[in-house]
Amino acid sequence: MIDIISYHLYHIGMHVTLRQLQVFEAVARHLNFTRAAEELHLSQPAVSMQIRQFEDAVGLPLFEQLGKRVYLTDAGREMFGYSRSIAQLLAEAEEVMEQLKGVQRGHLTVSVASTANYFATRLLAAFVQRNPSITFSLDVTNRETLLRQLEGNERDVVIMGRPPQELDLVADPFMENPLVIVAPPDHPLVAEHDIALERLQSETFVVREQGSGTRIAMERFFAERGVTLTTGMEMSSNEAIKQAVEAGLGLGIVSMHTMELELETRRLVILEVQAFPILRHWYVVHRQGKRLSPVAQAFKNFVLEEAQRFTSAPREPKAAVVTAPG
Ligand code: PGA
Repeated sequence: MIDIISYHLYHIGMHVTLRQLQVFEAVARHLNFTRAAEELHLSQPAVSMQIRQFEDAVGLPLFEQLGKRVYLTDAGREMFGYSRSIAQLLAEAEEVMEQLKGVQRGHLTVSVASTANYFATRLLAAFVQRNPSITFSLDVTNRETLLRQLEGNERDVVIMGRPPQELDLVADPFMENPLVIVAPPDHPLVAEHDIALERLQSETFVVREQGSGTRIAMERFFAERGVTLTTGMEMSSNEAIKQAVEAGLGLGIVSMHTMELELETRRLVILEVQAFPILRHWYVVHRQGKRLSPVAQAFKNFVLEEAQRFTSAPREPKAAVVTAPG
């Protein structure tokens, strides 16, 4: 039973505490002070005192003692009925609160980076299968928008690449996110191994839009190595980049997580470039100090523990290199 000692029930002329009601209920049920004291882990004098104070507050005697036996007075019998109802209601309230602490119900708001959506939808589907009464809304957008949403505390959790450290965020890494260079199968570099970064300077690249995490990581990687790429063509989705690369518009840089289908059907090939893949990680992120709802907390745990199962991207990207026919 919920034990709220300081919670007072006010009634005209009656000022009793839930604790007194609880002690009264136990004594009335056992008709024995000693047994009630044992059940409540109290001393017998403490029980007697609570009952005395309770009777004072009620304004009527509730027990009478004849010899060694304890009896309820008429008023005591009436009060016993009420105290049992109150105890039941409290137990019920406790149960409902426990349920709310669980994930049986609740709404989850998640935003994921466009690239993360290649596994996030499967992840959410599995989570919903485990918790069928929850509902969720999923926003798929690029890194820049995610950071704005985090700043405005608009979502429960966000799945993205590493967020900037100056923001007041909690970011837990849960899976690798390797970026690779992809080419159509008939590209001359496909047959080569250990391609030097400088060789890429004579190639054209189709790149993601400004504000994309993939784009930022790629730019940083080449800038650090003093390599300048020709990046004339911008596309706002991974799918568009892959289509463009397939169509022969240039080379692309994408996350391995987007490549499942293209590798399977051999429509695209991962080039073996020095220092590649660019190793990044996925993070589950929320504002520092945010009180996650039970369902959001459960989802976060689920992501941290099980996300790896929902992507077919190999942990060792090099092992996935597909060589062109011929
Ligand atoms: P994005 O990926 O390129 O789809 O924005 C997010 C990230 O890698 O941080």
